[in-house]
Amino acid sequence: MSLPSSDAPKIAVIRGDGIGVDVTNATLAIVEAALTQTGAALPVYDNIDAGAGYYAKTGRDIEPDGETRAGAADAMFLGAIGLPSVRHEDGTEISPHLRLRDRFGLYAGLRPVKAYPNAPQRLADPRAANIDMVILRESTEGLFYSAAVHGRADIRGDEEVRDTLLVSRPTTERLHKFAFKLAQRRKARGKKGKVTCVDKANVFASMAFFRKIFDEVAATFPDVEHDYNYVDAQALCLVRNPWDYDVMVMENMFGDILSDLAGGLVGGMGMAACAEIGDAHALFQPAHGSAPDIMGQDKANPLAAILSGAMMLDYLSERRNEPRYAQAGALIDRAVDAGFAQNALRPMEATWERGP
Ligand code: IPM
Ligand code: MG
Repeated sequence: MSLPSSDAPKIAVIRGDGIGVDVTNATLAIVEAALTQTGAALPVYDNIDAGAGYYAKTGRDIEPDGETRAGAADAMFLGAIGLPSVRHEDGTEISPHLRLRDRFGLYAGLRPVKAYPNAPQRLADPRAANIDMVILRESTEGLFYSAAVHGRADIRGDEEVRDTLLVSRPTTERLHKFAFKLAQRRKARGKKGKVTCVDKANVFASMAFFRKIFDEVAATFPDVEHDYNYVDAQALCLVRNPWDYDVMVMENMFGDILSDLAGGLVGGMGMAACAEIGDAHALFQPAHGSAPDIMGQDKANPLAAILSGAMMLDYLSERRNEPRYAQAGALIDRAVDAGFAQNALRPMEATWERGP
């Protein structure tokens, strides 16, 4: 039996710029195919215009009522936003999605990093086949606090610019709890189930505070193993022994940087899925940019977006208490696994294996 269509979840869809359009269309086609197989109702879409192209045309970065509509949906799906040629007067790019993260409290930026067989692999060590980890990027504060809402940075003429790094107790507590619960769930699924606090607590008071709250939360999860790493050492470890990590929790900017590094280990940004989850809202997007140079040419790897779509189905399943949505998400995950195992999925990145 299908959900009556009035019960169908509503998804706010922001295709955005460049390949954001390509990968969103690919994802929605896959999501619909999977839902059809499970017999669940297809979602209802609310398409919202936003991004650099929209800004260039209208002077706004999102439709006037776009944020309200996004908040009224059960989930948001975003392709990619930004064009290097379109910028604010202060030199920054158009990034309304940072504001969405801020407005809807999407603190938990979940960025899974998994090696698939036959997918492009950058490390020669055979243990790289065992990479299966998650970067949990705090996504509303940290060094992105002043970037989250355009105009928040403290610009003092042409002489000095100050960005603020914010670590607040409520957000950080929620983030660390999310990390430990995630590790518990992963352990139940046969994964390592360990949390690593990635910080720079040796230098910054804000980071020492981040770690202090980590310790407080860790004490309430005695069954979950935890350790620590400074972010610079973590960058080294991600190249040297990434297979030893499971859940890594960190500040916003550190997560932004290390999620690209980690994506690179397993084939590139075309593999970098992302879910940004808050207590009442969630946004799903590939972690890559808009790559306008390859848009519309059937070259973009849609897997990051498709895997983000699978995470969205999982989220919707819980939110709407509709198990067939989770089944459809699992179907997509299994199809990607099988596609790689059979060497039937060859993303464009595979051809860069030897590099230019
Ligand atoms: C990401 C992206 C965005 C970010 C950009 C496009 C604003 O790099 O999702 O990682 O910095 O968060
Ligand atoms: Mg990034």
